[in-house]
Amino acid sequence: MRQPLIAGNWKMNNTRAGAESLIQGVIEGSTGMTKTEIAVCVPFVFLELGQRLLSGTPIRLGAQNVSTEASGAYTGEISAAMLREFGCRYVICGHSERRQYYGETDAVVAKKLAMVVSSGMTPILCVGETLEQREQGVTETVIARQIDAIIEANGIDSIGQIEIAYEPVWAIGTGKTATPEQAQEVHAFIRRRIAAHGGAIAEKMRILYGGSVKPSNAADLLAMPDIDGGLIGGASLVAEEFLAICRAGE
Ligand code: G3P
Repeated sequence: MRQPLIAGNWKMNNTRAGAESLIQGVIEGSTGMTKTEIAVCVPFVFLELGQRLLSGTPIRLGAQNVSTEASGAYTGEISAAMLREFGCRYVICGHSERRQYYGETDAVVAKKLAMVVSSGMTPILCVGETLEQREQGVTETVIARQIDAIIEANGIDSIGQIEIAYEPVWAIGTGKTATPEQAQEVHAFIRRRIAAHGGAIAEKMRILYGGSVKPSNAADLLAMPDIDGGLIGGASLVAEEFLAICRAGE
């Protein structure tokens, strides 16, 4: 069976003091949770703090972005090797905010995934359709393009080394969650799509849901057969809310 993964995506939030108390709160509140894997994906500047506080705990550390390049004259970039050195286990790649505001294409995202994997970490690949695309009825076409681009660039075997998060863009930070049935339908489609490429991994891989997950809807989402966890934005900034979602995975 697939172990649930609940990962917090803090996005560009928090102060140093706030980050410290939030991580401490998650550590303390999650003792005794054994079934769910928990991760926090923090801004780069809090990685050292995260590494220090989380060492010796089962909670994993993650980053939210990475450079496509290994090293060199790329002002402002952070390499996969640097993230690895700071104790990251996960790196979110291709979040819709990066695709939308920073022009990340499927090709860029594929390069980032390869960098993360070759540095010994696990990328969390985000895919999802906009409201307009959903209304036009092209959700599956969009998701298929996002998944196929990775398989074409990096090979089907690379899919076995990543986590996928389905994040409908219209549900991110809007309070509008996909219904468990809507999310399940797309998760099952993603699994079928990977299986159709010959990926024996399709049944084993985790597919997380992201988009306005809250304590009140987490259990219903996680109860769906193809939803293996969550990528949590806003609710991951409040320890009690994040912990309540983690508990729903237990
Ligand atoms: O990556 C998590 C995400 O985009 C969902 O954000 O605030 O809707 O939970 P939120």
